[in-house]
Amino acid sequence: MGTSIKKAVVIGAGSMGSGIAAHLANAGMNVVLMDIVPKEGGRSSVAENAIQRQLATGGFMLPAYASLVRAANIEDDFADVADADWIVEAVIEDMAVKSNLYKSIEAVRKDDSIVSSNTSTIPLSHLTEGLGKRFAGDFLITHFFNPPRYMRLLELVSGPETHRSTVMRTRRICDEVLGKTVIDCRDKPGFIANRIGNYWMSVATLEAIKHGLTVEEADAVMSRGFGVPKTGIFGLFDLVGINLVPLVWRSLLDILPKDDDHHHFDLTKNSFIGTMLEKGLIGRKGKGGFYRQTGKGKDRIRETIDLNSGEYRLEQSPTLDALDTAGKNLRKLCEHDSAAGRYTWSVLKHLVCYSSEVAPSVADDVISVDTAMQRGYNWSEGPFQLADRYLRDHGIRPHQRLEINGLMSIAVMVDHGLGVSLLPDWSALWSGGLSIARVPLPRHAPVRRIGFIWGVQRPHAHLAGLFLQHAEAVFRKQAGKSNSKRKPRK
Ligand SMILES: NC(=O)c1ccc[n+]([C@@H]2O[C@H](COP(=O)([O-])OP(=O)(O)OC[C@H]3O[C@@H](n4cnc5c(N)ncnc54)[C@H](O)[C@@H]3O)[C@@H](O)[C@H]2O)c1
Repeated sequence: MGTSIKKAVVIGAGSMGSGIAAHLANAGMNVVLMDIVPKEGGRSSVAENAIQRQLATGGFMLPAYASLVRAANIEDDFADVADADWIVEAVIEDMAVKSNLYKSIEAVRKDDSIVSSNTSTIPLSHLTEGLGKRFAGDFLITHFFNPPRYMRLLELVSGPETHRSTVMRTRRICDEVLGKTVIDCRDKPGFIANRIGNYWMSVATLEAIKHGLTVEEADAVMSRGFGVPKTGIFGLFDLVGINLVPLVWRSLLDILPKDDDHHHFDLTKNSFIGTMLEKGLIGRKGKGGFYRQTGKGKDRIRETIDLNSGEYRLEQSPTLDALDTAGKNLRKLCEHDSAAGRYTWSVLKHLVCYSSEVAPSVADDVISVDTAMQRGYNWSEGPFQLADRYLRDHGIRPHQRLEINGLMSIAVMVDHGLGVSLLPDWSALWSGGLSIARVPLPRHAPVRRIGFIWGVQRPHAHLAGLFLQHAEAVFRKQAGKSNSKRKPRK
């Protein structure tokens, strides 16, 4: 089976389904885009409006490509699934809705057609439950990012029953025909980019509120300090929709292991976000979010929400001594004696620790983690590259890195802070080139949660371990300064 797709059906004509349909058309495929029949308007009006939206927002490379997408609905046009080569499911993030749809698809689809889901959080093993061998053999997750035309990352997840030929064929289509950077992910909640990205979004939001930063200040620190796009953290929430918090974040938290650190940063329980949602402040798609625009023409003004009062005020350009003094030096920024410095350090520490913790279970190697965050979230550096930069800013030179290359660096994250130890020779544990793994370290009792990275060959893994060692030193210094006992990580 080659990469040719004569006909694709995309089910769900929301932000993602319509964007995916447009991008498939950009690659020359004939696409049927279908949604439910709405209570008002034409029977296929949801898909018709979605195509118009893609035309207005640049989802099509050329307006003429819109003619390759036919608007349809699931009641009158479901027969189109029967001769489709690829059926992409992009309906709401609801297990029951997706599962029922798969049953209907399976009843009519032809042999060898590919069925894939765009779910952002639900593992494939949950989605295929009770659907039989034939379905499981042709089913995968093809996780596009928003907007599908522009975001380079595509996370590909297959299951033990997915035919190798289906996996290879889908990978080639996504890579060669759609031009995506395809990363194979393990079948874990949130895969790679959202597992780490959603956690980062939760931490960056809640820590900004805790450290008393304004919306503009937090966004400036995240974009200029970390190298995430200009939207920072609050601008990003406005872009993706704050209404996703009770849907996507809840869905992710519900399926994460109980000891996952994300539970310490549960956005769905945050009262400020709750109040915004009650008022309908969901971001750019609604009447405003953390930012809003009012007035028209020369009377147009941009306002920002005050994170204490919840009232809007004029947007202010942030002047942060921390950013001006530190420039591109991440270490200086982290150590700056200000709310912005403490905020940067806290977000960086949590981000790198969490990435270190989850990397062994979600990715084949650390490079996939960095690439996923670069291509899926448009960060200029992934979490391990940020750790690397932090180390460079500490003056650790390449030959010093090499000196420790024969050692295991083990970063142990304990519930009451960070602890790191360097052990001389654990190479017996090292198995053929794999530089990242998870094993129990009983001697470190009473450690409850252990994440560690070891690396003999890959500097990346070492750097993450080293980062934690330095993090520990800074942490101790800060703890000593405030003359208080070690505080919990959360
Ligand atoms: N929004 C994002 O940034 C993003 C990014 C990556 C993945 N995802 C995932 O993509 C999927 C779709 O997300 P979205 O943001 O486009 O959602 P959306 O709410 O914008 O659109 C969902 C669409 O599905 C339709 N729908 C619901 N039940 C249906 C059914 N039984 N048959 C046909 N259509 C049905 C709805 O009418 C709606 O138009 C979800 O699984 C989501 O987790 C979203």
